[in-house]
Amino acid sequence: MNDLIIHNIGRLFTPETDHFGKISLIENCSVKIRDGLIEDILPYEIEINAPVIEKYEILDAKGMSVLPGFIDSHAHPVFAALRNNEFEMRNAGKSYLEIAEAGGGIKNSVRKLRAMNEDELFRISKKRVLEFMKFGTTTLEAKSGYGLTVDDEIKMLKVIRRLNEELPIDLVPTFLGAHDIPEEYKENREGYISLLINEMIPKVAAEKLAAACDIFIEKNYYTIEEGRRILTAAKEHGLDVKIHADQLTSNGGSGLAAELGALSSDHLEYISDADIDAMISKGTVFNLMPGASFFIGMRDFPPARKIIGRGGICALSTDFNPGTCYCYSLPFIMTISAIYLHMSAQELVWAATAGGARALGITDAGSVEKGKKADLLVMDIKELSEIPYSMGMNLVRKVVKNGKVVI
Ligand code: NIG
Ligand code: FE
Repeated sequence: MNDLIIHNIGRLFTPETDHFGKISLIENCSVKIRDGLIEDILPYEIEINAPVIEKYEILDAKGMSVLPGFIDSHAHPVFAALRNNEFEMRNAGKSYLEIAEAGGGIKNSVRKLRAMNEDELFRISKKRVLEFMKFGTTTLEAKSGYGLTVDDEIKMLKVIRRLNEELPIDLVPTFLGAHDIPEEYKENREGYISLLINEMIPKVAAEKLAAACDIFIEKNYYTIEEGRRILTAAKEHGLDVKIHADQLTSNGGSGLAAELGALSSDHLEYISDADIDAMISKGTVFNLMPGASFFIGMRDFPPARKIIGRGGICALSTDFNPGTCYCYSLPFIMTISAIYLHMSAQELVWAATAGGARALGITDAGSVEKGKKADLLVMDIKELSEIPYSMGMNLVRKVVKNGKVVI
């Protein structure tokens, strides 16, 4: 049934979905949920009497705050093995690109994922997704991209589908077959690109295994020209598109995202001014994930103040993956973003809720409004700035997903 009343809410914070960074506040209120959707927001303390108890399950927020569940719009939660050895190598002085050139990085994850069967991959990925939920994530993007063969990419996407079916969280699948050029195609890039365009994308789209197609545009990975061909093919098969762009070098990937009408361009440490303007003119979401710069020890972060100053719409995500950001927690990413991106708590919460929804092209979650999914958090805060301020702490006390208390 998923009929629930949350009462005794001290403060309810919800983003104004049409105004980047604006959060509305309602004090001393109650939320009524029916069939997993928000039925009403009552600006007063509802009386919990016998008829109410008969109709609804009751959750007492004990005067704490309620927010929409976090939407993490960029993550790689399905992989076979940790890469903590690479973390140590970086801290001893090697760079991400140097480690990748020596056979580490994505190629390392690809070798291990190919050797693991679907059930085992499902079992270890499930544990990770449950961790995301504890930190308040109720919708999570999940990318393929560590298989890089038809069968191994499909294996990853099937794991994502199973996780979505079995766990009380929405997983939004993205096909990232263009994460790297696999070892066996090193001397034959064109062969792999043709496999992507002629086999993988049509198959993934036909089996509805992904909502979008992503690509890593970067030095030593994919060029703009290749990106244009691959993503155009994806669009022709009805997939949304998005790009890992301008992360390690300024490469024009964000301009391509604007040109193709992508949902988002992601990373953006080295985005150019012209590409910022191009994205704004097309309404492309700036998906910021400074956890990756932080974790690989970069000194440069995405120019969030410039983007916001010009009118850009930002999402905030973890980029959870075994190489460049091993972090489940959007609140911790908010801490990094407050310090290095100089974003306010209102902007951060907006980006991690309404912004995440925009980046995924979903309209039924990301704010507390009548008719939206009842994906809600009870957090032990009075003011939003307590979230980024509480470094590495978990202030999430309850997680409600589709009207059900799941944590
Ligand atoms: O988002 N940039 C490319 N992909 C990931 C890193 C993947 C990896 O190192 O395994 C990222 O940072
Ligand atoms: Fe990524």
